[in-house]
Amino acid sequence: MVQKIGILTSGGDAPGMNNAIRAVVRSGLRHGLEVYGIYDGYKGLVEGNIVKMDRKSVSDIVNRGGTILRTARLREFKDPAVRQKGIEQLNKFGIEALVVIGGDGSYMGAKKLTEMGINCVGLPGTIDNDIASTDYTIGFDTCLNTICDCVDKIRDTTESHCRCSIIEVMGNHCGDLALFSGIAEGAEMILTPDHPIPEDEVINSLRRMREKDESKRAILIVSEKLFPDIKEFADKIARETGFDTRYNVLGHVQRGGAPSASDRVLAARMGAYAVDCLLEDKGGICIGLVNNKLVSYDIYEALSLPRDKHISMLRLIEILNS
Ligand code: F6P
Repeated sequence: MVQKIGILTSGGDAPGMNNAIRAVVRSGLRHGLEVYGIYDGYKGLVEGNIVKMDRKSVSDIVNRGGTILRTARLREFKDPAVRQKGIEQLNKFGIEALVVIGGDGSYMGAKKLTEMGINCVGLPGTIDNDIASTDYTIGFDTCLNTICDCVDKIRDTTESHCRCSIIEVMGNHCGDLALFSGIAEGAEMILTPDHPIPEDEVINSLRRMREKDESKRAILIVSEKLFPDIKEFADKIARETGFDTRYNVLGHVQRGGAPSASDRVLAARMGAYAVDCLLEDKGGICIGLVNNKLVSYDIYEALSLPRDKHISMLRLIEILNS
């Protein structure tokens, strides 16, 4: 049976990662394992930035955003020779298995390491909610709440000036943050990769809105990477609709802050479950929450699953705005 496990966080940080680290450490110790923290993701693994953790190492972190183990993106980890260096570092410490908290890129690294003899279990840690093998990723709920706090504030000034506000949110190529925050905020329009409204349609409906009611304001929530130049889009709306228009790119404020209660619980459940899987000698898998039940998937299978495009929620936007 496994006796020494490691844990690392990789890719973009997400609120709730600390809660997952805490659950892995405390659950591992409870099972009599030695638990090692690997700093700076796969980069720290390759460089041997590894420290033994105890109960206290994860005290007082339940309310902290970011990740105490820090994180990094290491493209070179795709190279088997680089991964081999990581394995040599693990061998030095006698670490036999790993929990990897991150997004899809980190999952792939975990699968490849497993194929090289180190059992890895992946936990979905990303604000983007772009991992199909779980209903929710760790960090999504907190990020959504942060976006809503920001949009509530932008709404106050948008209403006071009868303006159109375009708000660009993160999500990489996944529109869930835009879709969910747009519904929560009653946005006039939500533009995501799964729901890209053509520009002329956006302009025509804003123009109609404005013609009907001069005191009307409009909130548009837009996924990042949809428009190469959001300022240009805002200027065009202003020119062609009569709406005084402003744009806001929310940026990295979305990734920070104390994790929500929901993310804390999700991360704690997943972290403890990951340790159970390693104790059963499982590897190359990732954990998900599906219909409120913890599940595990082979990582290749998880990465090939189609993402839920939330078609019913797209319909909901039309109903709510009718
Ligand atoms: O994956 C999380 C995420 O915040 C994406 O939403 C965003 O596209 C990207 O990371 C930004 O990455 P960075 O912090 O490296 O600029």
